[in-house]
Amino acid sequence: MFPEAFCHSLRKTLFATLGTLLLLSSAAAAAHAQTSNTTLLVDIDHRAATSLDGDWHTIVDPYSTGLYNFHHEIKADGYFMNGTKAYNGEPLEYNFALSPTLKVPGDWNTQRRDLFYYEGVLWYEKDFKYSPKPNTHTFIHFGAANYRSHVWVNTKAVCEHEGGFTPFDCDITGVVKDGDNFVVVAVDNTRSADGVPTLQTDWWNYGGLTRDVSLVDVPTQFIDDYDLHLSRADHSLIEGYVHVKNATPGTDVTVSIPELHATTHATVDANDRAAIKLPVKSLSLWSPDNPKLYKVNLAAGSDHLEDDMGFRTIETHGTEILLNGKPIFLRGVSIHAEAPYRTGRAYSEKDVDTLLGWAKDLGCNYVRLAHYPHDQRMTRASDRLGILVWSEIPDYWALQFDNPAVLAKSKQQLGEMIRRDRDKASIILWSVANETPDTEARTKYLTTMANLTRQLDPTRLVTAALLVKTQKTATGSVKIVDDPLGQALDVIGTNEYIGWYEQKPAGADTTTWDIRYQKPVIMSEFGAAARAGHHGPATERWTEEYQADVYKHQIPMLNRIPQLRGTSAWVLMDFRSPMRTLPGLQDNFNRKGLISDQGEKKQAFFVLQKAYKDKTLGKAQ
Ligand code: GCU
Repeated sequence: MFPEAFCHSLRKTLFATLGTLLLLSSAAAAAHAQTSNTTLLVDIDHRAATSLDGDWHTIVDPYSTGLYNFHHEIKADGYFMNGTKAYNGEPLEYNFALSPTLKVPGDWNTQRRDLFYYEGVLWYEKDFKYSPKPNTHTFIHFGAANYRSHVWVNTKAVCEHEGGFTPFDCDITGVVKDGDNFVVVAVDNTRSADGVPTLQTDWWNYGGLTRDVSLVDVPTQFIDDYDLHLSRADHSLIEGYVHVKNATPGTDVTVSIPELHATTHATVDANDRAAIKLPVKSLSLWSPDNPKLYKVNLAAGSDHLEDDMGFRTIETHGTEILLNGKPIFLRGVSIHAEAPYRTGRAYSEKDVDTLLGWAKDLGCNYVRLAHYPHDQRMTRASDRLGILVWSEIPDYWALQFDNPAVLAKSKQQLGEMIRRDRDKASIILWSVANETPDTEARTKYLTTMANLTRQLDPTRLVTAALLVKTQKTATGSVKIVDDPLGQALDVIGTNEYIGWYEQKPAGADTTTWDIRYQKPVIMSEFGAAARAGHHGPATERWTEEYQADVYKHQIPMLNRIPQLRGTSAWVLMDFRSPMRTLPGLQDNFNRKGLISDQGEKKQAFFVLQKAYKDKTLGKAQ
């Protein structure tokens, strides 16, 4: 098909992208999935950026035709070339400019009926004008892309990323040019057994560029990570570090909080890090009752960053959770990143304000963001609103716990989650897993993850949502919490569904708890389903009355658990799930919401609201 001389130069170009291209067909992707050439710029929402949000041309590519020819060989004119005319006499059989568009940010499933169930490769293309500046690095930033994404700018492969809920940044300094440019992104949301999450999830596998995309310029030497936290031992000392990429040793770093007239200087060491100690006077500690945020300025060389940060300490003492040294009870609810009313992956300020507004209305001082990191707008808003946060990576159900490649993915997502949100006072708990099987491989895997969490961030608490055993007794049943993973956790999360998946609602009245850990316990999930507006006797499943009855029996039981220091009912709002197919009642929605996806508050909402507002559920000590 091609003259020899041409083949040689073609081979060279091809190999440049080969590493990347191979990963786009599901089978190859499953075998080779990884992340490379990405970094993560912290506090990106305070940096000057050029948004690439809006309409992107798209091509749906279930057969990876954008990659392979009929003999499964890599194509020279893959879609990453963004071709506009015939190639080598070959007719052009794709054209982004003539192809339909989709909105970014946004999942593809709820934007087009024909993509509702689509799982596979979808190509995005966007033209953009740009004028690179001297002594500057240009990055393309992705808030998140589900699940695997491969990025080309001006036909050059720049990076690839795996993981659908954490941000990544790709350096395009070497390929962006003055004037017209284009970016092509292939996003593949094919589920795989060695994925994180793995094949089964009780949430919809929304695919696409689900969060903001932008271009960000930073000076050659720039701040790419920092940790500033209040010392547990001394509430008048903020300490941590600032990491300066490409730093020249001896570079001066300044951190200041103008409102507190506090400034400190430090010098970057051989590891590009400057150790920070910032004494502060009359600091107003951040808490749900006082969500005080300070403007914090960071400078290194010619790079300047500003952040809005609160300062507080969080720790455990026996079975108590201490916020700023005082015992606290976490009155909460679990939330999926499902957009209220319009449904689909939530990301916007409006989505966030509605969801957290409902949580506040419920009387919450805490939310569990399940089962993956939510949009940064959610954690920023929690900082402003004074809502404590449990943040989690999707080590969900039965991962391949004996597969080192999968562990690497969990570690990568954990690192990205912590790096993005380390500056959020609202986040007090990092969760490394949900409802995983009690096997040796699992416990080893997650103990490694728990220890890595402490290494990456020793200032917060490590948790996970555990499954609990049930044993029948003469008078009812006993719930036994003895999962060995509990040893590696600071706070024990436990999920139970008495009245739904087991026993009748009143079963809670005769259930006792045998918790083998003298640690704080959070009931991270409990609840039942109901279709909003579906009414009947409290004994009839799916009615609001039945769901409310489950909560009425749960509350006294929860109050009998001595170590209980928090509750996050499952779930704030109904959310889409391919596992929920009951016609007329579920219709692809998990209906355990206290509120429907259309904002209808169910009776159970008011049962829990009363307990939270009257503070009749839970004791801080
Ligand atoms: C589990 C799981 C959730 C799920 C819920 C349910 O506990 O953690 O992701 O949605 O149960 O069954 O509704």
